[in-house]
Amino acid sequence: APGAQEFIPPQADTIDQLRAAAAGCQGCELYRDASQTVFGRGDESARVVFVGEQPGDMEDQKGLPFVGPAGRVLRRAVDDAGIDPGHIYLTNAVKHFRFELRGKRRIHQTPDRVHITACRPWLVAEFARLRPEVVVVLGATAAKALLGPAFRVTKQRGELLPWPNAAQRPQDFQRVPVDSAGKVADVPEAQLLATIHPSAVLRADNQDVAYEGLVADLTVAARALA
Ligand code: URA
Ligand code: SF4
Repeated sequence: APGAQEFIPPQADTIDQLRAAAAGCQGCELYRDASQTVFGRGDESARVVFVGEQPGDMEDQKGLPFVGPAGRVLRRAVDDAGIDPGHIYLTNAVKHFRFELRGKRRIHQTPDRVHITACRPWLVAEFARLRPEVVVVLGATAAKALLGPAFRVTKQRGELLPWPNAAQRPQDFQRVPVDSAGKVADVPEAQLLATIHPSAVLRADNQDVAYEGLVADLTVAARALA
């Protein structure tokens, strides 16, 4: 598979232009069985961007990320952490639904490394347009995409981390404030924060404890924005 890069028009300046191009992506085989590309959505001037794993069954049908049960948990946790849910942008590490057919049921399958690698150019292109200050990595798949295979969410969740990849410099996709004289102001470096995936809250033996942990991690991100 060629990867997503060749499907990204270099002249695509806006998220809408990227979304339109991503609709035709054939960068890995996942486009074949899924209904449609599910691109990111939300506030394009959001200071914080959330990266999930891949669209689920409902997202695949609606064409929008985080419209199912995990999305409800996430939005509530964002709100409880003191981040305005109206001013966030939500996307996924992989933009097509990967599943296995069992009878008529479509069973979620975790994306493989090839899918994560193939799809990563879309994520980088989104960051370049959005220039977030904090990227919240939700669960192991997004962590693999942005922090590498050795990263362990359970060990390093809730910590503000410096931007990890020297090749994708923070200043390439950072929000750059300009003062009233048009001068570019000093900016803090973009940071990452990893936490559990909201669907892990739904699967937890003690959902309340898992939820409070998610909110606690997101509160660290909220404070970084303050
Ligand atoms: N889970 C994800 O990781 N992303 C979605 O968009 C929905 C559920
Ligand atoms: Fe392209 Fe990503 Fe879909 Fe693969 S999963 S076809 S790389 S958009």
